[in-house]
Amino acid sequence: MAEIGMGIGTDDGERKQVTVLFADVSGSMDLAEGQDPEEWRKIMQRFFALLAAAVERFEGTVDKFTGDGIMAVFGAPVAHEDHARRACYAALWMLDDVAEYAAELRRGPGLNFSVRIGINSGEVVAGAIGDGGDGSYTAIGHTVGLAQRMEALAEPGKAYLTESAAALAAGFLDLKELGPFEIKGASRPVDVFELVGVGAARSRLDLSRERGFSRFVGREREMETLEDALAQAETGEGAVVGIVAEAGVGKSRLGHEFCERCRQRGIEVFEAQAQAHGKSIPLMPVLQMLRAYFGIGDRDPDRIAREKVAGRALLLDSELGEDLPLIFDFLGIPDPGQPAPQMSGEARQRALGRIVCRLLGAPSRNHTVVLAIEDLHWMDEGSNAMLAQLIDSVAGTNTLALVNFRPEYRLDWGASSLYRRIELQPLGREDTRELLRDLAGEDPSLDGLEAPIHTRTQGNPFFVEEIVRELVEAGHLEGEHGAYRLARPVEEAGVPATVQAVLSARIDRLSADAKALLQVASVIGKEAGARALALTAGLDAEELDPAICELVEGGFLYEAELYPERVLAFRHPLTQEVAYGTQLGERRAATHAAAAQAMIELEPERLEELAALVGRHMELGGETREASRWFARAAHWAGHTRPQDALRLWQRVTALTEELDDDAETRALAVSSRMLQLEYAWRLGMDREQAEALADEATEIAERSGDVHAVALLKLLTAARPGVADRASEWVGAAKEAIRLADGTDDPALRVAVRSAGAYAYMCAGDLDAVERIADEILTLTAGDPSLGGGIVVDSPMSWGLMARSVALRERDRAEEAEALLDQALQLAAEHDDPETAGWARGSKSLLIADRGEHEAALGLARRNCELTERLGDVFSRTTASTALAYVQIAAGEHAAALTTIERTDREYREAMGAGGETEAWRSTLRARALLGAGRADEALVEIEWATATAKRREMGWQIPSALHTLALARAATGAPDAEEALDEATEAARSRGHLMTLRRTEADRAVLTAAAG
Ligand SMILES: Nc1ncnc2c1ncn2[C@@H]1O[C@H](COP(=O)(O)OP(=O)(O)OP(=O)(O)O)[C@@H](O)[C@H]1O
Ligand SMILES: [Mg+2]
Repeated sequence: MAEIGMGIGTDDGERKQVTVLFADVSGSMDLAEGQDPEEWRKIMQRFFALLAAAVERFEGTVDKFTGDGIMAVFGAPVAHEDHARRACYAALWMLDDVAEYAAELRRGPGLNFSVRIGINSGEVVAGAIGDGGDGSYTAIGHTVGLAQRMEALAEPGKAYLTESAAALAAGFLDLKELGPFEIKGASRPVDVFELVGVGAARSRLDLSRERGFSRFVGREREMETLEDALAQAETGEGAVVGIVAEAGVGKSRLGHEFCERCRQRGIEVFEAQAQAHGKSIPLMPVLQMLRAYFGIGDRDPDRIAREKVAGRALLLDSELGEDLPLIFDFLGIPDPGQPAPQMSGEARQRALGRIVCRLLGAPSRNHTVVLAIEDLHWMDEGSNAMLAQLIDSVAGTNTLALVNFRPEYRLDWGASSLYRRIELQPLGREDTRELLRDLAGEDPSLDGLEAPIHTRTQGNPFFVEEIVRELVEAGHLEGEHGAYRLARPVEEAGVPATVQAVLSARIDRLSADAKALLQVASVIGKEAGARALALTAGLDAEELDPAICELVEGGFLYEAELYPERVLAFRHPLTQEVAYGTQLGERRAATHAAAAQAMIELEPERLEELAALVGRHMELGGETREASRWFARAAHWAGHTRPQDALRLWQRVTALTEELDDDAETRALAVSSRMLQLEYAWRLGMDREQAEALADEATEIAERSGDVHAVALLKLLTAARPGVADRASEWVGAAKEAIRLADGTDDPALRVAVRSAGAYAYMCAGDLDAVERIADEILTLTAGDPSLGGGIVVDSPMSWGLMARSVALRERDRAEEAEALLDQALQLAAEHDDPETAGWARGSKSLLIADRGEHEAALGLARRNCELTERLGDVFSRTTASTALAYVQIAAGEHAAALTTIERTDREYREAMGAGGETEAWRSTLRARALLGAGRADEALVEIEWATATAKRREMGWQIPSALHTLALARAATGAPDAEEALDEATEAARSRGHLMTLRRTEADRAVLTAAAG
């Protein structure tokens, strides 16, 4: 077995969204001179220690010590969803600490120090560098350089942010915009911000509120549960509700809406929340809760704050009096006259817990309160322990404790009988639509946006909001909030940085194996079979299962199928995008190539079907030659059954051959991919210039490599194919030349293929003898092999030959023989997968049946044929089928319907091909007949004059007699002169070409005309 696997866990780098911070202690160099080096070293070490401590406090990584400062990274190696915020907090901390120490140095040795800080957010490549991967972990990229430039720009004692860091931190931090700066290395001016202090927003929801909430949608059932719990609390039983969901699903918003309702009813609500970076600040949520409870404002002087605390505490419970010093101390408002008792940290915490329970339990004896605590998953241990105590004390009070957390949080008190859990689901389709309308508006140009946004976000409202914001920022949406228009189509929208931060933080919490497997899965696609996963990742079952288990339990993947094989799919497309995007290009490419190999190995019987996918993986895996082969295989397989796909695939092959070494195989692919594009071009429509360029390129390459086959076919494709604007004589000339060239080879397949296209040229020229002769040659050459020469022009030339012959026979007025041949052709086409020829044959047969006067049957067949060719999707087959339908409708006397059909057909053809093609005069003749039938003779006359002139100009011998015939009828109907002359000319044209059926019809009408004239 080939070595396919990637070998899991050998990752040596990743792309990550991070915030980089540079801090340097300035003024140091010139000071160094007058300073005792030993002293100096001590001072600098102290500075470094202060800076590093601030970084560590917010769980950043000190990447390196520069000469007089540090570089730190937040969000790597482990991603943090609030990386920019953490960097800013660290910066504030640094500024404070350094300022304090600097003041000390000024007072003491009289030295002047200050720190400058630069902050930038963006993508870096992070990993170990150095030989053998044992080098130290570091971040590299433009993002790093820009952070350093910010630092150089910053004034002493200040921290500067780039716009991208500011965008992530705004609201949480107080920023002052300094305007655009030209920065070396940046292609455009960068908006710079100064970090001023901590902002008003504590959570993302605060930020949303500041920006203006989107309309609250859905959540009726969850509200009921909350109301229920509140009712239970009001009875004095107490209640606890936990809202659980992934980031952004709407836990906080639901809680917020409910708390607002409570407040409006006069129920007191106290809120607290844990912070992502808050584990390092013990008991912060408890502190917050108490401050809220006592109504202490940020700017209250200590004395006022103490009065508030004492007043409220004593009012509730006079016994709390003795605990006041401890409470003051904890709240950071110590009373100098009454210091807190000395006790161990643990004892202090226990005492606090008891106080909290008494405080929060107490008021509910009189009236109902709601305690809302957010984001338990970020809570420090101390707060957690205190929360468990608090939950216990809720029983038998009028308290409703409402908490929320993400699924990874394991709660210790879930067994409490008071506890109810709300598993909050993402928004449903309807609610998502409503949210989207509220955010973006209802302009019709947005119609196409809803489905992809729903698919990408899976109803996560945070993702919906961020994606809309991203679309606005990227200029896809124009207008204003709630009333946007689509200005630029959205082909590829990136993952918003905010969303990416959330998702990569989740991914980084996985074990190394699970994370690596997730990355492999993201390369394979939205879905991956377990065997393909194992083979691509190079894992055996024992290693695979635990990793899959972790991913399924963590909600990253789900089991889309269990039988016959376990198939795992991404729950969230954005997770896949992020997991994919974080891998280094080289490694990702290797995984793509491994995925292709795994497919080849695992699905040998489905390779045709999978060829396009294998090709795609090969291409992304850098295996260009393999990719071009697989795309060619896929294109052949798509063939005439899915012509659009085939065309697209051949285009890929052409593009890939440009990158390959110029050898025989490349040239052959370069020619055939272009030829086959041309093959589909006349069926599907293609820009004229584009088609000509393709033909020129292909001819040049084919001649250079002496490929007679290709030269013959190109002759056909450029000059003797349907849709060419030339006169029929030139067309026939080109067909003859192509046949001559092909006959110069001894390749029967080529000779047959060239003839199947040639027959059509003769058909249009109205040369029945030649059509029959060529059809016979096809039948002789194929010698009973229905697929010989297939796949070049049509899929079954033998079937096509029979069909061509029958067309000639019908025109010779030998309907029965024609029909027998058609039946044979149809059967062969069906058996040998040639839906295109089958379409032609069915259309021709509907004409024969209509000619016989069996209109219902003819209509049925013609309509069915339209349906079937519609599925085929190419314009050529489709318009041929609907032209036949128009003919049958006229025969059946359904003139209005025929008119609609033929007008639609003509429009469709012209739109796709940019011209009317070789059948334009025939369609025009049918339109004239339908107009005549509908009693609109004047219009019919104008139409048929154009048809006759066109058929003659282009020498379409097949159409000339019937056009003249119709002209005669139109002239007679309008009383225009020369009706009989036209009929004479029609008769002569039909007779000279042996078009006996048309001849019979002109003669039949002659009697009518003469009678009318007489
Ligand atoms: N039902 C809803 N209707 C309208 N908007 C909503 C709804 N639910 C949530 N949102 C919006 O989606 C965004 C994310 O919601 P929210 O902050 O409540 O998520 P969360 O689950 O608390 O996430 P996290 O775990 O990150 O705290 C917010 O801007 C919020 O206003
Ligand atoms: Mg929240």
